[in-house]
Amino acid sequence: MTVVSSLPSELNARVQAVAGIDPELRAATKPQFGHFQSNVALRLAKSEGKLPREIAQRIVDSLDVADLCEPLEIAGPGFINFRLRNEVLAGAAEAVRTDPAAGIVQHGESQNVIIDYSSPNVAKQMHVGHLRTTIIGDCFNRVLTAVGNNVLPQNHIGDWGTQFGMLIEQILEEGTDVSALSLEDAEALYKRAASHFKDDEDFATRARQRVVTLQSGDEESLTIWRQLIETSKVGFNEAYARLNVLLTDDHLAGESIYNEMLPDVVADLEARGVAVVDDGALCIFTDGFEAPLIVRKRDGGYGYATTDMAAIRYRVNELKGDRLIYVTDARQAGHFAQVFAAARKAGYLLDNVVAQHIGYGMVLGSDNRPFKTRDGSAATLSSLLDAAEENAAPEIALAAIKYADLSSGLQKDYVFDPERMTKTTGDTGPYLQYAHARCNQILRTAEAENLTVGPITVVDEPQEQNLAMALSRFGEVVDQLAAELQPHKLCTYLFELATAFSVFYEHCPVLKSDGDTRTSRLGLVAATRDVLAKGLGLLGIAAPERM
Ligand code: ARG
Repeated sequence: MTVVSSLPSELNARVQAVAGIDPELRAATKPQFGHFQSNVALRLAKSEGKLPREIAQRIVDSLDVADLCEPLEIAGPGFINFRLRNEVLAGAAEAVRTDPAAGIVQHGESQNVIIDYSSPNVAKQMHVGHLRTTIIGDCFNRVLTAVGNNVLPQNHIGDWGTQFGMLIEQILEEGTDVSALSLEDAEALYKRAASHFKDDEDFATRARQRVVTLQSGDEESLTIWRQLIETSKVGFNEAYARLNVLLTDDHLAGESIYNEMLPDVVADLEARGVAVVDDGALCIFTDGFEAPLIVRKRDGGYGYATTDMAAIRYRVNELKGDRLIYVTDARQAGHFAQVFAAARKAGYLLDNVVAQHIGYGMVLGSDNRPFKTRDGSAATLSSLLDAAEENAAPEIALAAIKYADLSSGLQKDYVFDPERMTKTTGDTGPYLQYAHARCNQILRTAEAENLTVGPITVVDEPQEQNLAMALSRFGEVVDQLAAELQPHKLCTYLFELATAFSVFYEHCPVLKSDGDTRTSRLGLVAATRDVLAKGLGLLGIAAPERM
């Protein structure tokens, strides 16, 4: 659905229109070959049985790109070389510099995008997986908002279910004051309750009974349940503040809010024959899945899938969602594929509503196994942040974590290496922050010396041209991210931009040049700073002025 197109994409599209196949424009290997090369003529020659140079000539003759390029050249066996005109490159960079959105385009038809992310569980600390969903979901939120959507985050916290039976029983037995518990304490209580449940048959029976009591609206049980949620919320919000993400209490939409809808959803599914009783359980059979989706267990209880069916109906009918995005551990991919199929069958997910599950891989330790803390326990989110902060100041440590999380394909596992990811060199978050701070440093000096910043008019040097080209691509990259939900492409882009900037700065004196050249180069610095700041912002990473 990409509609914003950068100079390279525009050129590629025009050549394709004439050549009939994707010309696969590549960055030229040497400046004397121009900016891009295409081997399209060589590929066509094979199928057409003609000489490549002949075909190249035919393409060049029928191609009208004079508004973008210098006269085209045919090189060697039949490569076509493209050199963008200087003023076109300068103009593209200048457009970015003078655009408050730095090239990001807001689409007219704003969609309601519902993003289900973070979604930790009550009375449990957020673990490493919740770190990923929170960071990734936050990035989607920022990007989809930036291109003009109405984003509705839904924090589907685990605040309902049979575990509350044992939690409440344990609390009553211990006489615990829940309001005085930290999330850590609550988790310790959870563990005590769980082993109690396992070892003590009487306790287990009382816990099961307590679930029924709670569900029938018993005030004492409800009070404790609410306190557990409150306590957990404080812990979650501490984590969100530390992560600097956009989630607030307004986005809480836990499993419990669907509880009262469940009987109705299930009755509806059964009445319309979407769900059928099979071996005592109420099931939805979906093509391509071995086992059916169970929406009512044999004992009459509802489960995780029932809640997700109700949530879809609610998100489409009440929240008017056009696009539903779920960010969880990749291991839930099967669950969501089946829930989506069942919801389509039920007509809860209409044809014009998009539903996407974005699964992410695991965070690994240096031993390539799931990341653990030093004492060997499963890592909590705060232990990860602590580890990164041993290597850098909080703002930089956070940049390091977020960038490491977003910069390789989401589906891949990645190794949590605090030392590597906090480095200010290489493909890291801190490196991008550093490049941004360097731009600011130059601009501060320019301001102190009363120098004019922009317009960008002169891009004679290849390094200036490269930087201008990189700047011109930002809007398209953001658009693509909104469509494809692959943050690593924005990371790669920002790294390329920072690299192009650093090469430019090495070769082209800025403050020591003069006249239009200096004005123009300062303009390039300002545009680079703006794109880096915006781009980091979309990743949820702070862009400090100084480092
Ligand atoms: N609470 C679940 C977990 O921690 C994630 C919930 C994801 N969202 C959903 N609608 N099922 O794994």
